[in-house]
Amino acid sequence: ASPKIKLNNGNEIPIIGLGTWQSKPDEVINAVEYALKEAGYRHIDCAWAYDNEKEVGEGIRRSGVPRSEIFLTSKLWCTHHGRVEAALDETLANLGTDYLDLYLVHWPIHLNPNGNHPKFPTRPDGSRDVLTDWKIRDTWAQMEAVLAKGKVRAIGVSNFSERILEQDLLPYAKVVPAVNQVELHLYNPQLKLVEYLKSKGIVPQAYSPLGSTNSPLLEDETAGALAKKYELSPADILLGYLVAKDIVTLPKSVNPKRIKSNIEGALAAAKKLTKEDVEKLDGVAASGKQMRLIQPPWGVDLGFDNWPVR
Ligand code: A2P
Repeated sequence: ASPKIKLNNGNEIPIIGLGTWQSKPDEVINAVEYALKEAGYRHIDCAWAYDNEKEVGEGIRRSGVPRSEIFLTSKLWCTHHGRVEAALDETLANLGTDYLDLYLVHWPIHLNPNGNHPKFPTRPDGSRDVLTDWKIRDTWAQMEAVLAKGKVRAIGVSNFSERILEQDLLPYAKVVPAVNQVELHLYNPQLKLVEYLKSKGIVPQAYSPLGSTNSPLLEDETAGALAKKYELSPADILLGYLVAKDIVTLPKSVNPKRIKSNIEGALAAAKKLTKEDVEKLDGVAASGKQMRLIQPPWGVDLGFDNWPVR
């Protein structure tokens, strides 16, 4: 099983979790069951917006692993900022559980809840129907309330830049977010943000750690050379690089072989990589390879580095 990291609420989070974005409902049941029952995962990362929470819940039940042994995260969608508790209740019902270990604000973006689509409302001109007369602090107060009620054990954020944390959230927060989940990988290592988060006691979580679908990262020369040196796969190096830096890492897979090799390989690589290896990997992006893989569709500057999108 994977080692754990302490959150600022005193609870522990397993450093490797199974990602479920883009996992098809009919595939995610088996993926979650296999990850828990056969591969030693104890951490599943989900979201209301992934449209597969019910199936994640089914996978958890089929695994037979007790709920109390599993660290379960979900996320508040952008159309739900005005009704956090109701949205959380829907997520809990989907997953078939009565609490989450971690509930995240999925994006610092409020989309019109009465728009033309429940997930991605647009305006007549095709742009996203983003509400601007809204304060993150109002959503956060509701997050603090569901925490106080015991429906979730920790609260955090996702896709929050240093600017938004510093200006719009931390000055008003009674509870400091436990985590910030962002795109983070070899070509977008978020070195400054990670340092900032650590200074605030916020644990960084990496989504798309392998570079998402059709990843250019798997062909990276530096990662490839280290893979050869340590007789591991490039994917192992990409994941182990993050684990070695105490970043909670969330590889997505629906393939049993890869689900298993991701957790085993990541832990093996994290052990083998030296300080010099990690420093070398830290420098890869800056050598001209910086890129974002996920282009947020909001048309709003969120304060992240504006790397070219693959
Ligand atoms: P699959 O689900 O078929 O395994 P990320 O976690 O960065 O979002 O990357 C997920 C993508 O990488 C998915 O397309 C997933 O496909 C694939 N993937 C997951 N694990 C590995 C691996 N060990 N080697 C290569 N590709 C992988």
